[in-house]
Amino acid sequence: MGLRQSGVAAIMTRTPDQTAPSRALHVITWGCQMNVYDSARMGDVLRPLGYQPVDTPDTADMIILNTCHIRDRAAEKVFSELGRLRLIKETRKAEGQQTIIAVAGCVAQAEGQEILARAPYVDIVLGPQTYHRLPEMVARAARAGNAVIETDFPTEQKFDFLPEAEAPQTPGNYTAFLTIQEGCDKFCSFCVVPYTRGAESSRSVQSVLAEARRMAQSGVREISLLGQNVNAYHGEGPDGTVWDLTHLAYALAEIPGLSRIRYTTSHPRDMNDALIAAHRDLPELMPFLHLPVQSGSDRILRAMNRGHTADEYRDLVHRLRAAKPDLALSSDFIIGHPGETDEDFEATMQLVRDVGFALAYSFKYSPRPGTPAAGAPLQVPEDVKDARLQALQKLLREQQDAFNASMVGKTVPVLFTGKGRKPGQIAGRSPWLQPVHVIGPDRLIGQTVPVRITERLTNSLGGILEEENVYA
Ligand code: 5AD
Ligand code: SF4
Repeated sequence: MGLRQSGVAAIMTRTPDQTAPSRALHVITWGCQMNVYDSARMGDVLRPLGYQPVDTPDTADMIILNTCHIRDRAAEKVFSELGRLRLIKETRKAEGQQTIIAVAGCVAQAEGQEILARAPYVDIVLGPQTYHRLPEMVARAARAGNAVIETDFPTEQKFDFLPEAEAPQTPGNYTAFLTIQEGCDKFCSFCVVPYTRGAESSRSVQSVLAEARRMAQSGVREISLLGQNVNAYHGEGPDGTVWDLTHLAYALAEIPGLSRIRYTTSHPRDMNDALIAAHRDLPELMPFLHLPVQSGSDRILRAMNRGHTADEYRDLVHRLRAAKPDLALSSDFIIGHPGETDEDFEATMQLVRDVGFALAYSFKYSPRPGTPAAGAPLQVPEDVKDARLQALQKLLREQQDAFNASMVGKTVPVLFTGKGRKPGQIAGRSPWLQPVHVIGPDRLIGQTVPVRITERLTNSLGGILEEENVYA
């Protein structure tokens, strides 16, 4: 399904290792949360070599671009960034300093050879499955004048070769991402993920639980389990049997300190009765589910190879809400998939009206070279896509605003994760992932406390501490 896009973020990871010679590492991350997680782990594997994170490329001994290929002009963005980095590399070279430039992630996987041909100053090209081999690649790149390219899908599992993550991952100290599954076997017509991330594979239960325990010990209260098809998780359990996501969620809920569990991204086809029941029975599972539907037209869903109809999705939502009445849903939509008619688009609008989404992401279809839909006849003209996207986004925005407005007057548990933007404010998240701000003492950061919601702001909520006297 791909994962939520995070925009561009420079990743600051670990404290320096005092024993190795000190070198500066700058990582630029595009794309989904899994890339954010991967960037942090690349920082982990490079730390024993003395690499410490810095937040600008100008002084970096190594620069990694962790790229995304899901939509838009991904490769062009990478080449334009590389042009900028080339100048930095040349300036530093004139000063007698070496700069290693690495391109990682899904563009590297899809267009590795092209990158080396067009940007010969790139030293390392590595796909998402090979970043545990980075230290060896860095050594080779530093020695040889030749670029190192590693874009095969190795037989060993990278998670078995990565050092243990000691500290929580981004986005903060109290919330963390944890990758449990990678890759996809669904082959939706439009999607590049099965080609860049490879076949579905799941981490072992033991390694997931060990990482989650370390996170909890270092203060993490909320874990977001990541996977391109996270609810297809099937990891080897400690008893030799295969565990599914439900089984894993129950085990995670036992870890002291972990009070919130989320998972993303799910495929409707992999939502089963046990997982639905867990939303009813396991209080740690947050009542917010990202469940992309992509389209509300059966014809387009079939062309997309999604493996379900619009009514099957409606029925699934119905069963989820029967189990957990306050469950809110978010989704992804693709507008203008090849063959999409006005009637198909209207079916998508109708599905949105029927379901009601708390949050949604909608994109114009963007042909990905090598995917079945890219070569399909009946591509939809850009202006038609634009008009449809605008209409859909207006409806989705209304639903999001209505959902947020429905919180006003309610008391909700908020996990505070940091200071707010204004003096005296602290900020956190509701169970439905809404940012919430209150005036309150810093010592509540890291705790989950009841907040009465008093106002809806554009993309967040304002509230007051329910038991103000207790927390004053
Ligand atoms: N064009 C537009 N959107 C796409 N997505 C995936 N591939 C494409 C594409 N070729 C969207 C899907 C997916 C989300 C992560 O990105 O909606 O769920
Ligand atoms: Fe998701 Fe389909 Fe892409 Fe797999 S192929 S990652 S299910 S959109």
